[in-house]
Amino acid sequence: MLVSPQAERNWESLCSVLEEVLEEQSHRQLFGLELGSGTGQHVIRFAQKIPFVTWQPSDIKQESRDSIKAYIAATNAKTVLQPVHLDASEPWEKWAGLHNNSCDVIIAINLLQYSSFKTAQGVFSGAGQLLKQNGLLMTYGVYAINGIITPSCNERLDAELRQLNPDWGLPDIDVLRQLAYGSGLRMERMIEMDDYYKCLVFRKL
Ligand SMILES: C[S@@+](CC[C@H](N)C(=O)[O-])C[C@H]1O[C@@H](n2cnc3c(N)ncnc32)[C@H](O)[C@@H]1O
Repeated sequence: MLVSPQAERNWESLCSVLEEVLEEQSHRQLFGLELGSGTGQHVIRFAQKIPFVTWQPSDIKQESRDSIKAYIAATNAKTVLQPVHLDASEPWEKWAGLHNNSCDVIIAINLLQYSSFKTAQGVFSGAGQLLKQNGLLMTYGVYAINGIITPSCNERLDAELRQLNPDWGLPDIDVLRQLAYGSGLRMERMIEMDDYYKCLVFRKL
């Protein structure tokens, strides 16, 4: 099982946001898709705390999917499906056989700054297809706003990411808002989290 110290630190506050935004639908069983699940720590914790969501974890990396499988087995999680290979930069028709209008919620935690713009485009167009009407897309990460990155620790992070991979870096919230708009979603909330991170919540109209 892989362990991400950052996931260990942030899962609880992320879980609180999810509980809050999903509360109005807590009377029924929901279906949630996680993109770029990584180690699997988040999805396992969310399943423990939010039992009314059945989660589908996914990642492009085999080692992540192996780790998620190990967490599912170790915790005997009943509401987490086996992880699937899903490359969010691909058209949604290639997203592991998922059907359109099948998801109540899609989450992408620390995915957008660690992937190309093509992935951001894929996330929003995929969410536009896969989400049910009124379904939610929640992204968590660090962002630029109107092309400006503040404070200096985020500027450094952006530079480090771009050095690791020139296609990576902090996405701009205004660009994401436009991608959302083009896919039939609207940005509904921007929630400030620790260390200048934010949760962005988009709703499919
Ligand atoms: C920084 S990690 C975050 C993992 C986890 N969400 C977390 O916060 O601990 C980014 C993850 O996204 C995955 N990833 C990168 N590009 C992707 C893509 N195009 N589609 C799906 N997953 C991708 C990576 O394999 C990695 O597991």
